[in-house]
Amino acid sequence: MALLELSNIQFNYSDKELYKGITLKMNPGEHCVLVGVNGSGKTTLLSMIVGELSPDEGKIIWEKGTTFSYLDQQLKVAQDMPVYQYLYGVYEDLFEKEKQMERLYEQSATDPDHFEKILEKAERIQDELNEKNFYGLQEKVGRLTDGLGFDQSHLEAPLSRLSSGQREKAYLAKMLLEEKDVLIMDEPTNFLDQTQVAWLARYLQNYPKAFLVVSHDQAFMKQIADVVFVLENQTLTRYKGNYEHYLIQHEIDKEQYKKDYAAQQRYIKKEEDFIARHIVRATSARAAKSHRARLAHLDRMEAPAKEEGNVFISFPYTHSVGRIPLVVENLVIGYDKPLLDPIAFELNDGEKIAILGQNGVGKTTFLKTILNEIPSLGGGYSFLPGTVINYFNQDEKIDLNLSPFDYLHARYPEANNTQIRKALGSCGVRKEIALRPMKELSGGEVAKTRFALMTFKKSNFLVLDEPTNHLDQKAKDALFDAIERYEGSVIIVSHEKDFYDGLVDYELYF
Ligand SMILES: Nc1ncnc2c1ncn2[C@@H]1O[C@H](COP(=O)(O)OP(=O)(O)OP(=O)(O)O)[C@@H](O)[C@H]1O
Ligand SMILES: [Mg+2]
Repeated sequence: MALLELSNIQFNYSDKELYKGITLKMNPGEHCVLVGVNGSGKTTLLSMIVGELSPDEGKIIWEKGTTFSYLDQQLKVAQDMPVYQYLYGVYEDLFEKEKQMERLYEQSATDPDHFEKILEKAERIQDELNEKNFYGLQEKVGRLTDGLGFDQSHLEAPLSRLSSGQREKAYLAKMLLEEKDVLIMDEPTNFLDQTQVAWLARYLQNYPKAFLVVSHDQAFMKQIADVVFVLENQTLTRYKGNYEHYLIQHEIDKEQYKKDYAAQQRYIKKEEDFIARHIVRATSARAAKSHRARLAHLDRMEAPAKEEGNVFISFPYTHSVGRIPLVVENLVIGYDKPLLDPIAFELNDGEKIAILGQNGVGKTTFLKTILNEIPSLGGGYSFLPGTVINYFNQDEKIDLNLSPFDYLHARYPEANNTQIRKALGSCGVRKEIALRPMKELSGGEVAKTRFALMTFKKSNFLVLDEPTNHLDQKAKDALFDAIERYEGSVIIVSHEKDFYDGLVDYELYF
């Protein structure tokens, strides 16, 4: 029996039909990814699988006794527990047993009459602890926290004091330690840097049990997938095989469907012509009627769906301000103490660079320093006069009660309705969702709204902090093209090599 089985799932959000009767089967140990454009309903489907939401129709059946854990795309919980305590909490029962064993040993020393019996009991617990690798726990947890880039100070801090990215990593670490039968993750790479993504990919490759991971990171999925589920046009298709196999097979299937559909249309047309010509003739009316009956029973294919989620982004350019728009001279960045050695580089007009480096090393801090949002601790930087920056801020707090339309309108009150709708539509925020509060939108739809805002600003310098998070592949391609066409200078911070490779002139390592 399958570990998890979904049959005939249907669900509507107000007016929008997300699925027309989808089916999914997941077997023990299967390594699955779920793909689909932004807003196709991946997160919603996961919510149903974990029981946070009920489908309108259809059944979700977990095999009895199956355990799972779930990592949200946007985590809500904050806790006051230190990270290490939170992580070791997974093994609470084993620590309990250890205590019990120690008590027994102590008791055995003071109770000579039952000495042997007590000792025997203690030894049984000891064996169990050995068997469950209790004495290797520290190493196991250590390997995991190292892989995810936690240092000692992070481990001692309460969860609530961590940055949101670090907190997500703590949840991720806990989930990996729990080793449930099924891991369910929504875009786990969003808050990881490149080394950590690679580390997670290897970890998942070797994961002895099953997982279902939603992602838009193709390089990551190429490494982890053995089964690909594709959610498109409200239906779910299963591809057994790795991600490359899916890419190829999916194209073939699409082409084949188009051919089959065209062939059926030709057949229908021919039959209809025949019927029209013969139905009026006494001699062949019977034949025509039987053709008509056959045609009425034909299982008609639906027209091939038009491509979903097309996106076009464009960042308007003002003018050049000179040969070297930015000079950074021995700049020291940090909050109370320097985070990095002094930074020095020059950025030429029209030059595009990617800044790389471990999570938490200070890439965002660097950007915020040169944007004058936080003070520098030494050295300096200067932009040529007339430089206008258009900034995509990773940590921007937006009021999610606003609709995309109101969000843009508040920043650009002079823009008229048509302009705002056009900007949103072209960035892939469809008109049905443009007036809904953003808290009801998918992660990608919110990200696209923020890009739509940027298309209103004329600039000659782009600063983009992790711009690809939440974006589906089409949106990423559109963003790539927009940056490629942009004539000004560009600084990108991104953990997605596939994205900045071939786009930037050089990479800067922090
Ligand atoms: N609470 C809600 N009320 C109304 N509509 C909603 C609500 N939550 C989500 N939606 C809509 O349902 C659709 C599916 O959302 P979902 O978050 O499942 O998409 P997704 O496939 O996970 O997208 P992404 O790749 O951007 O994360 C979206 O169009 C979204 O706007
Ligand atoms: Mg989602």
